[in-house]
Amino acid sequence: MKSSNTPHAFLYRAAIGAAALAMLAATGCGATTTGGEAAEGGDASVEEGFDIGLLLPESKTARYEKFDRPYFEEAVAELCEKCEVSYQNADQDTSKQQSQAEAMLTEGIDVMVLDAVDAEAAASVVQQAKSQGVPVVAYDRLAQGGVDYYVSFDNQTVGRTQGTALIEALEAEGTAGEGEIVMINGSPTDPNAADFKAGAHEVLDGQVEIGAEYDTADWSPDKAQQQMEQAITSIGADDITGVYSANDGMAAGIIAALKSAGVEDLPPVTGQDAELAGIQRIISGDQYMTVYKAIRPEAEVAAAMAVAAATGEEYEGGGEHMLTEVEDADGNTVPAVLLEPVAVTEDNVEDTVISDGFYSIEEICTDAYADTELCEQADGGDEDEDK
Ligand code: BGC
Repeated sequence: MKSSNTPHAFLYRAAIGAAALAMLAATGCGATTTGGEAAEGGDASVEEGFDIGLLLPESKTARYEKFDRPYFEEAVAELCEKCEVSYQNADQDTSKQQSQAEAMLTEGIDVMVLDAVDAEAAASVVQQAKSQGVPVVAYDRLAQGGVDYYVSFDNQTVGRTQGTALIEALEAEGTAGEGEIVMINGSPTDPNAADFKAGAHEVLDGQVEIGAEYDTADWSPDKAQQQMEQAITSIGADDITGVYSANDGMAAGIIAALKSAGVEDLPPVTGQDAELAGIQRIISGDQYMTVYKAIRPEAEVAAAMAVAAATGEEYEGGGEHMLTEVEDADGNTVPAVLLEPVAVTEDNVEDTVISDGFYSIEEICTDAYADTELCEQADGGDEDEDK
């Protein structure tokens, strides 16, 4: 995927109701009544409400059920009180997602928001939707087939952020020039995984020796664990100085493999998603870092794009959500919003996921983590307040 940094002025035309406008303004999405090309679809109205199909790819990664779905539903409710969201999760099964999408199209959804299991295979669903006049918003992963809009994070930056953090950790441990690192990437059917990998390689290549590297079908934590076991067998646990894991779910499997091989002083392991379990591993020292991607704005932009497309308006972005363009693997240019990821280590858990309200101290500081520095400090703080 190529991304261009040139912002493109897309105009979001016509009246969409005062409440919707207020919400769009609040989320940084501008609206105007003139100019621009109409997106596909467009027969629906906010006043009468319409049906939005939301298709998410899997449930082993916590984000989808815990954040993406509820945030998206909340954002739609703010923008369009009478709209309904039909939701399906594909459990990482491409053909299941295809059937779910086809069923939604048969039921008559007015717009589809699709986080594809397999971006290439999704092209047929996208084309079927388009042939029925149903616009498609690609959510988080860029489905092929010519979608109308795309919202995600800057995924190469996610990979660079992970790679940079890993190098910093190796330098801090004094192992930068020693041993080998292991790279465990995400699913080959997910274009984001290719971006994370490319971004990480950009930073790591030439700086560290990569002793073993794997792509992980389905982003499966179990497969990541098996791959880590293989890497330990071939490299030797003592010679592994760090592990690039593309996300937190897989980091769990990787850390389990290291522990069951008897490694006590764990090498730095990266991650992504700021999953609760990932944050807990970070504060207890098992995992070095994660990448926090604020899902609320991603879901809000997706909802605004979906409402615009279904009602024949143009989403124009604005504020922090600058509209840019990306190219999908078929060469289609897609108007897109790409949000910024943030690295999280033990040092900034409080200033990121906690201050952002992603998690409360209580959620993180369960009994098993009570003796970590973060939780002890939080507990001490409470006692001080009680005095
Ligand atoms: C998402 C990640 C997620 C992974 C596995 C990627 O497309 O961007 O946040 O960890 O899929 O579901």
